Amino acid sequence: MNLLKFDSTEKLNEAGAGIITGLIQTNRRAVLGLATGGTPVGIYGEVVASYRRGLVSFKEVTTFNLDEYVGLPEEHPESYHSYMEQHLLRHIDLPREQAHIPNGNAADLQEECRRYDALLDKAGQIDLQLLGLGHNGHIGFNEPDHALISGAHVVTLREETRQANARFFPSLADVPTQAITMGVGTILKAKMILLVVRGADKAEIVHRALTGPITTDCPASLLQTHPHLVVLLDNEAGRLFP
Ligand code: PGA
Repeated sequence: MNLLKFDSTEKLNEAGAGIITGLIQTNRRAVLGLATGGTPVGIYGEVVASYRRGLVSFKEVTTFNLDEYVGLPEEHPESYHSYMEQHLLRHIDLPREQAHIPNGNAADLQEECRRYDALLDKAGQIDLQLLGLGHNGHIGFNEPDHALISGAHVVTLREETRQANARFFPSLADVPTQAITMGVGTILKAKMILLVVRGADKAEIVHRALTGPITTDCPASLLQTHPHLVVLLDNEAGRLFP
């Protein structure tokens, strides 16, 4: 594990974006696993800035998002389809058919999960998987449980996850109760994982995930088993690391 701490969000965002654009500069056909949420917004901003400076092109890149809410229309401002448009896709030259996000409105959600896993299989290995971390240790929407699922699946969101995401919605009642998420098996198969964690409220969970027991009660603890894990923390989230 390679853990880096930053004394400003700007430096963390630049470092995260630098890792992503550096990969594409050396492999223009890179397959990226992408995350949503508050954490990566600034990283995407820096990636877009690099694109605008002509430093990187996404024409041959393929992306797979980790998750999407079930039942939220794609055009809803808080859908992860909208998020990706707003923060990345509309600003860069990535052909839309190469950007994959689970369809949380599919008539048959099980079939959609199979379709998503088949697409991932066809693309080969994800070169870089970007991850945030939930306060309960979730990665993607793989919530703490007695067992974890390897492939894409429908998940019922934990109450704490809905509460954490309520800040993006008019009220808690508006936060969807289910999502489709990439499974932990798929996440762990990525060649490299870039875990980004910010804020004092995540200091304990990131420390537990990376130094505590490997357990399905904390899905992110499985990242300890990954051979190429890079962790970017701000000083607040990294408080418990020397
Ligand atoms: P956040 O979410 O970036 O909005 O804190 C992270 C997560 O839940 O994975």
